[in-house]
Amino acid sequence: MCGIFGYISHPSLKLRNGKQTGDAAKIIFDGLKRLEYRGYDSWGIAVKDQGKITLEKHVGRIGQAKVNLPKSSLGIGHTRWATHGGVTVANAHPHLDCTGQIAVVHNGIVENFQDLKNELTRKGHKFISETDTEVIPHLIEEFLKKEGFASAVRDTFNRLKGLNAIVVTSAVSPEIIAAKNGSPLVAGIGKEEFFIASDATGIVKHTKKVVFIEDNQMVVLGKSLKLVTLPKGQEIKPVFHDIDWKFEETKKGKFKHYFLKEIYEQPKVLENVVLNQRQNLRKLAGLIDKARGTFLLGCGTASYAALAGTYLFSKLAKKHINYSVGSEFSYLQDFVTPKTLVIPISQSGETIDIVQPVQEVQKKGATIAAITNVLGSTLYRQADYKFLLDAGPEKSVAGTKSFTSMISVLLLTAYILAGAEEDGKRLLLAAAKNLRSMFQVKNINKIKRLARKISRSEHMYLIGRGLSYPAAIEATLKIKEISYIHAEGFAGAELKHGVIALIEKGTPCIIFAPNDETYEEIISNAEELKARGGFIIGIGSKNNNVFNVWLETKDIKEATIIPQVVYAQLLAYYLALERGVEDPDKPRNLAKSVTVK
Ligand code: F6R
Repeated sequence: MCGIFGYISHPSLKLRNGKQTGDAAKIIFDGLKRLEYRGYDSWGIAVKDQGKITLEKHVGRIGQAKVNLPKSSLGIGHTRWATHGGVTVANAHPHLDCTGQIAVVHNGIVENFQDLKNELTRKGHKFISETDTEVIPHLIEEFLKKEGFASAVRDTFNRLKGLNAIVVTSAVSPEIIAAKNGSPLVAGIGKEEFFIASDATGIVKHTKKVVFIEDNQMVVLGKSLKLVTLPKGQEIKPVFHDIDWKFEETKKGKFKHYFLKEIYEQPKVLENVVLNQRQNLRKLAGLIDKARGTFLLGCGTASYAALAGTYLFSKLAKKHINYSVGSEFSYLQDFVTPKTLVIPISQSGETIDIVQPVQEVQKKGATIAAITNVLGSTLYRQADYKFLLDAGPEKSVAGTKSFTSMISVLLLTAYILAGAEEDGKRLLLAAAKNLRSMFQVKNINKIKRLARKISRSEHMYLIGRGLSYPAAIEATLKIKEISYIHAEGFAGAELKHGVIALIEKGTPCIIFAPNDETYEEIISNAEELKARGGFIIGIGSKNNNVFNVWLETKDIKEATIIPQVVYAQLLAYYLALERGVEDPDKPRNLAKSVTVK
């Protein structure tokens, strides 16, 4: 949540890719564009220019905007997802102190900001925004009265309560300083320059060599990179990592939106799991086998993948695996013991509602086997065992390929546990093939026609049984967040317990009807909906008279959940286009990577 980007090329470090260094504003602007999926209600950049801070702030998305700041070798920027204070220019970051010499960008929530604000107001500081962030530059200003820049930033950060990451620069210092506790930060090491960003997608264009800043660490970027611990400031040796993401992977290429690009990447993602993950997944299967009690955790889309995991392990491996939404796990973990295995699943590896409960159960001695897409993310570093989804960067705020990669990893692990690894691999390869045939023009046109027909609906209902139930709720989430149509997903039988009251003539109802033990009963549920006027869209390998529209999948057993959800992703996308949604990659009010509670 919120994207941070800082850049410094020290005046003595003259060359950048053989060219003159020094257009911090341009580099930061470009970096913020790449980080915009973390928050996009307002943005701003501050650079140091001739011994003073010059800044520019705007409400709205970066989009096609331009930046008009002077050339500089040092600066910081921010793209915001509002927490404290509305979406206004005054509330956009960077924030300044009273002298205008200290600029701060921030990700997180300063929980004690009101106390700090009262204290600083009593000392005569003037505030111009409603944000919690603004206390930070004023506090630094206070500390600077008696100490140097680095210790002033350190002492300030030590006074902040909550989970925060800050990046600070000052008109009187040739450095950028960043500190973190909770919210992510990564420093990039270029040839003659340094970068600091909320995540590596912001800097992979410039360098693949990075240092992940750990909680309670502060980094000073100047002539060199100096890493110190908090609260005391003892210097420690940085650990360098190489990111293997290619810059091209972070671009849209021929696609109009990342959402569509990432949908089309899914066959490759599935094949990648089959080709490259078997060794890892055998290890994961071994951990599950020997654990006494296993929990799958996730939030949003990842939680639906986790829920699907419980069905997969039950059905295939005859294993009972518990499941919890990340934010609820704190209230459910009283019986966790050192023999419990907790498997948090998170695309970003930064979601606070996962990271925090994992920290809690780690204190109880539970083993953590994290499944994430981001090397070096907080969850990745936190875990005892680390499993990478390897789906490549996901830039659309709404997850697509992350979901299918999570499902593939869980499905193959369940098959391995059942002693039928080859069957699992075959199914995933068949799912990849099924997706490729779904992407043929004729089929896409059918989805577009369907989207046109139902795009003015106010409500939609989706039902599935067994493994198709998590598919239905994930499908629902995609439709809601991308097209803004109200959609609800239910277990097939639940309708008669109340929801069926909402069905009217023409209400679109999507029925997940795979060729499995749920088929007959879900078709009966479809009949019940049709009898009340529902417009029935069936997704499965067999057509049925009850369907008004049939979207065909192959019969690929448990892997059918993959084409089921991909149909919903495509439908959500074309519904969004039909309804004129401004940017399906950045749905209103959302942000990728939810790092605040
Ligand atoms: C919805 C979506 C979100 C995320 C959720 C967890 O399309 O993407 O619901 O799944 O915020 O994010 P991660 O997986 O990064 O923990």
